[in-house]
Amino acid sequence: MKLSTKHLLGIKDLNKEDIQLILSTAQQFKEVLQRPVKKVPSLRDVTIVNLFYENSTRTRMSFELAERRLSADVLNFTASSSSAAKGETLLDTVNNILSMKVDMVVMRHSASGAPHFLAQHIPAAIVNAGDGINEHPTQALLDAFSMQERLGKLEGLKVAIIGDIMHSRVALSNMYLLKKMGAEIMVAGPPTLIPKYITEALDVRVEYNVQRALEWCDVANVLRIQLERQNQPLFSSLREYNLAYGIKRKLLDGLKKEIVIMHPGPINRGVELDSDVADGPHSIVLNQVENGVAVRMAVLYLLAGREN
Ligand code: NCD
Repeated sequence: MKLSTKHLLGIKDLNKEDIQLILSTAQQFKEVLQRPVKKVPSLRDVTIVNLFYENSTRTRMSFELAERRLSADVLNFTASSSSAAKGETLLDTVNNILSMKVDMVVMRHSASGAPHFLAQHIPAAIVNAGDGINEHPTQALLDAFSMQERLGKLEGLKVAIIGDIMHSRVALSNMYLLKKMGAEIMVAGPPTLIPKYITEALDVRVEYNVQRALEWCDVANVLRIQLERQNQPLFSSLREYNLAYGIKRKLLDGLKKEIVIMHPGPINRGVELDSDVADGPHSIVLNQVENGVAVRMAVLYLLAGREN
């Protein structure tokens, strides 16, 4: 089976079969990763560049590890230490890299649409590792994989996405994916961080009271406040955000059921998530990180296998 797309620019472009194919392929790679020898030869002679124009810890290391586990040749590019800092354009930088016979580009950029622009101008396959406030497709795929692994299904699952919905590419990719897979979605947080156009276009539930969101959901995917993307204050203070919207142990203890807590990282402890929740029994945060490698192996393997 093959993916319907040449690039992975966003979950928006995938169909349900693509998502299922990626998740089932990731399951096979997860099994490979449990073996003493974790490396497979699938992408031998394929060269991949990781092009990071924005800070990253998990995503970048996860992609690099996925590439190495698949035996690809790996190049790393960090904008702050490159000729981008001397004024070179994105397209020039990439064309120069491609002339060194690079097959695939994994890219993160602070501008929404940067990988889509590149996809129109270069022949290599592109994987979006996060573009501005638009999409972060591999994060949504690893979130889905982790939910399915923990709860056995996606269809009918009640997922609350809590926090800075407006500036979060993780929120948008998750909403697209969960919708396609038949989950029920709620977004929760302060009204100033929940844009009406998104909730209306995607027809998701909106809740401004976090306790009610937790009472409703099976899974809470808690997001960081993206202060670096906010040029005006959208809530009073981080302390007050924590008091009104932070996920606290006593909120979870007051529920009549067990829910799963997720977070894409980096966590701002004591703001959106208290430490005893982040490190507690409800949290699958580190399982998400572990699953990220298998999911990215699946994406790279499937894209490399498409002949066009
Ligand atoms: C997210 C991102 O970069 O969009 N992090 C990640 O990739 N694990 C979320 C965030 O920065 O808050």
